[in-house]
Amino acid sequence: MGMNVAQKVISAHLVEGRMVPGEQIGLRIDQTLTQDSTGTMAYLQLEAMGVDQVKTKRSVAYIDHNMLQQGFENADDHKYIQTVASKHGIYFSKPGNGICHQVHLERFGVPGQTLLGSDSHTTTGGGIGMLAMGAGGLDVAVAMGGGTYYINMPKIVKVELQGKLQPFVSAKDVILEVLRRLSVKGGVGRIVEYTGEGVKTLTVPDRATITNMGTELGATTSIFPTDEMTKTFLEAQGRGDVYVELQPDADATYDEEITIDLEALEPLAALPHSPDNVKKVKEAEGIKVDQVAIGSCTNSSYLDMMRVARILKGRTVPAEVSLVIAPGSKQVLTMLAENGALADMIDAGARILESGCGPCIGMGQAPATGAISLRTINRNFKGRCGTASAGVYIVSPETAAVSALEGKLTDPRTYADRVDLSVQLPEKFFVHDNMLIPPSENPETVEVIKGPNIKDFPVNEALGETVEGKVLIKVEDNITTDHIMPSNASLLPFRSNIPHLSNFCLTPCDPDFPARAKANGGGFIVGGDNYGQGSSREHAALVPLYLGIKAVLAKSFARIHKANLINSGILPLVFENPEDYDALTLMEDLIIENAIQQVKSGRVAVKDAKSGQEMAFRIELTDKELQVLLAGGKINFIRQAQ
Ligand code: F3S
Repeated sequence: MGMNVAQKVISAHLVEGRMVPGEQIGLRIDQTLTQDSTGTMAYLQLEAMGVDQVKTKRSVAYIDHNMLQQGFENADDHKYIQTVASKHGIYFSKPGNGICHQVHLERFGVPGQTLLGSDSHTTTGGGIGMLAMGAGGLDVAVAMGGGTYYINMPKIVKVELQGKLQPFVSAKDVILEVLRRLSVKGGVGRIVEYTGEGVKTLTVPDRATITNMGTELGATTSIFPTDEMTKTFLEAQGRGDVYVELQPDADATYDEEITIDLEALEPLAALPHSPDNVKKVKEAEGIKVDQVAIGSCTNSSYLDMMRVARILKGRTVPAEVSLVIAPGSKQVLTMLAENGALADMIDAGARILESGCGPCIGMGQAPATGAISLRTINRNFKGRCGTASAGVYIVSPETAAVSALEGKLTDPRTYADRVDLSVQLPEKFFVHDNMLIPPSENPETVEVIKGPNIKDFPVNEALGETVEGKVLIKVEDNITTDHIMPSNASLLPFRSNIPHLSNFCLTPCDPDFPARAKANGGGFIVGGDNYGQGSSREHAALVPLYLGIKAVLAKSFARIHKANLINSGILPLVFENPEDYDALTLMEDLIIENAIQQVKSGRVAVKDAKSGQEMAFRIELTDKELQVLLAGGKINFIRQAQ
């Protein structure tokens, strides 16, 4: 039977399992990327695993998120990442070289290869025909060490693109249309594969805008086939040699299908506060705009910037609007500077920010209180851009630029008679990789520099025969990872400093918990239903590990947090009888005897050490999770496997 593009790339990298939707598969990873806010932890994990040189074909460490260096913390992180990359065979992209996904597409992406990145928008690589997925830092570290990456085989959704976009309608409107139809949950457990005649009309940067925001669909990833357009892009980057053609077989089948007529698409906007709250710009037109931000990994390519410059050329941003533009990479910024487009932007009254994430996460331009901000970014959840009261609209660069000039949300097609937007890809991109530092040729001579903000990563011990300790905290239902490990702006610079973060663990529930845990040398957490819901934050398991937590006894666990606890070697035990929760008291001494045997059996008896009274718990693990837990976490498991 014929295969689609996603199946072709998966089957070429399949280490374990069958390509049956829902079944677990193991994939070989060719490339990895990290950014600075997740990278420090990933490299501390890589070091803890004892990996000398990375086993991937290419790994790159980018600095693009935390570029404001008000104190030593970010600078320490950057120094650490640069030196650890140099020592272990990893390229280092200096601050200012650009946003990880934009630079990776330009300089490293290879069609048909797998890419795992510690950033959810790693899916951008699908625009060049990579199977590119976002993951936690530990998974990325494991992949760098040559380990397999496990996912459940997704369903493949075919999005058939017909026709050609009208002028002033762009790739951003395509993905907004997909979001409008499928919603932010529509891609869960799925890979979105684009096909059809319309694909040929989209350049690689256009395709990358679409695959970037596949993340907002909740999709595992999105992928385009490769063709002449891909080849032309790679040749213009001086990398034509890595091109391979990837097309679905004529008899390829898909699990689901939708069709989009590009010709019929109109400029769209995602209204506050969700990327799938999509309306035609025409329907929301006229809303007064306070601020416009153009850039981010979704829309900061050379083509995006050139179209914006054409719209702004010879015009002026009105007094009441603040416009910021952050070109996506040094390559893009240099080309704009050389061809005069940058001068057009500056002259129109735009503020130019360095090439990085910047305003996407509120750095360099957060909206004013209650302001309306138009942005070319990918998500507009409340507070995402730094101001919870702001209304953020997600739009295309064309809509953003025209609306900035008009001071109100405006359909960009109103400029169709005034501006020629037929910008072409350059025959040659400007290539000067002096901000991309290759790894050292003499890694043994490289000293990894760890400033005071870089602290070693906590590693557990193999599960012992007896697990004992006190109940150190008892919390209610629906405790989130934000309760377990708060992540406010003042704590953000300490992502690589677990000892510091430990002083804040579960403090929204009980301010004395960290001190109690330290005084008692660790012990147990008791939780209610849905313990650990919220984000995939690994720190919510690493920090309890640092505090000596051996098991969490809960009525139920959020899926990802349970996986993170297992990766840290902490037992996630579920009450057999939820009413037993009421009987447990703070500082009660608990003991699990014969722990290894009990965990293997899936049934664990926890005893009150004084009265000997038992409570029954379940522990539900896959074979692999059991091995990880017995080894004392994933790092130990990998060390053993090496
Ligand atoms: Fe950066 Fe925003 Fe993309 S933080 S990686 S530009 S989603």
